[in-house]
Amino acid sequence: MLRGNRELWLAFLAMIAITGVYGLVVVLMREIPPASELFGHGIGIIGFVFMLMTETLYSIRKRSRSVRWGRMSAWLQFHIFTGLVGPYMVLLHTSWKFNGLAGATTLLTVIIVISGFVGRYIFTRIPRTMDGLEIEGTLSQEALKQARRLLALWHTIHIPIGMALFVSAFVHIGAALYYATFLK
Ligand code: HEM
Ligand code: HEM
Repeated sequence: MLRGNRELWLAFLAMIAITGVYGLVVVLMREIPPASELFGHGIGIIGFVFMLMTETLYSIRKRSRSVRWGRMSAWLQFHIFTGLVGPYMVLLHTSWKFNGLAGATTLLTVIIVISGFVGRYIFTRIPRTMDGLEIEGTLSQEALKQARRLLALWHTIHIPIGMALFVSAFVHIGAALYYATFLK
């Protein structure tokens, strides 16, 4: 079960703290931190690691039948936390320029976050135990069937967007490191 909005509040607080640090860097450097220099680069790398964790950890936990570390609901909360904070750090990494493939990768990132909110909404319509298993009979069967069908449809959209995002991110990272870092 995903009760309350705790993970959204924690993500919001983390984003405020990160904005504070970013603001301080802007004031001290008297410029928007460039994507290829220490701060902009660092925040991009950390944000991307968060995004990679978002893409993999919850799915691994969901599919592991034998290992039972931590509740599914806690992993989903962590998924949402890193799925918001990671993209936010990556957004600050862009230095507010969105050319070419890097711009397209940012757009895919924004789309997956919006899609995540839609999925979260549908997910919370299906009653579950604390460990994420569905509970039968709490809602009218018809409404429950509809929510399940919607969630299945949502998965078929959300997952390919995620894959496209990571393919395009890896190409951007390879190209950016080659042209903007190693050739400098
Ligand atoms: C999903 C993750 C990422 C997104 C959406 C993203 C997006 C962007 C954007 C929009 C720019 C600005 C492009 C422009 O000048 O118009 C940029 C620049 C850059 N990014 Fe990323 N980035 C991501 C991850 C990373 C990571 C992990 C690294 C390094 C390992 C990286 C390295 C760079 C570098 C070096 C530049 C500067 C390129 C230059 O000055 O020409 N990016 N990125
Ligand atoms: C970098 C951003 C994100 C990526 C790459 C991502 C990726 C994924 C992937 C691959 C899955 C499928 C998990 C599976 O069934 O194995 C998933 C599920 C899900 N995501 Fe995300 N996500 C992101 C952000 C978000 C955000 C911001 C939210 C909520 C606000 C969210 C909510 C959900 C929900 C509710 C599910 C369905 C869980 C289930 O059916 O078991 N995601 N996400």
